[in-house]
Amino acid sequence: MAVQRTFSIIKPDATERNLTGAVNAVIEQAGLRIIGQRRIQMTEDQAKRFYAVHAERPFYGELVEFMTSGPVVVQVLEGENAVAKYREVMGATNPAEAADGTIRKLYAKSIGENSVHGSDSEENAAIEIAQFFSEADIAG
Ligand code: PPS
Repeated sequence: MAVQRTFSIIKPDATERNLTGAVNAVIEQAGLRIIGQRRIQMTEDQAKRFYAVHAERPFYGELVEFMTSGPVVVQVLEGENAVAKYREVMGATNPAEAADGTIRKLYAKSIGENSVHGSDSEENAAIEIAQFFSEADIAG
């Protein structure tokens, strides 16, 4: 299986509860390597652009408001099959449906405030990484 990169966000509900280290422990225990990481305050423009694919969905405004409500940690993760592996480690979007041991089962508060984001394809991972990182800020 190929070594891939994926993009992750530790969302404001998790940074607010000081859970960055706890989330990172789950990521690392799953065999994924954090090869880039920055804590930022997302601007409204950044959040709108990042979630543009969901612009027509009823929760878009709420999602943008939430993602700009506090600091987030943007990350580049690397590992074998990293895109699918991280989606598995995160658990289902709705924490009520997330499997035991997943980040969302452990920490998410609701379908909106669900602690983490992970890219859904290798193609989108490359696009999302480029929105927040230059190669100089990534070391594998
Ligand atoms: S996914 O991951 O695309 O299959 O999930 P999806 O259900 O399509 O959700 C996409 C993102 O929208 C967020 N979301 C919501 N935010 C606020 N309110 C409601 N009701 C809601 N439903 C979904 C969800 O957390 C996903 O965010 P990301 O950051 O992509 O994981």
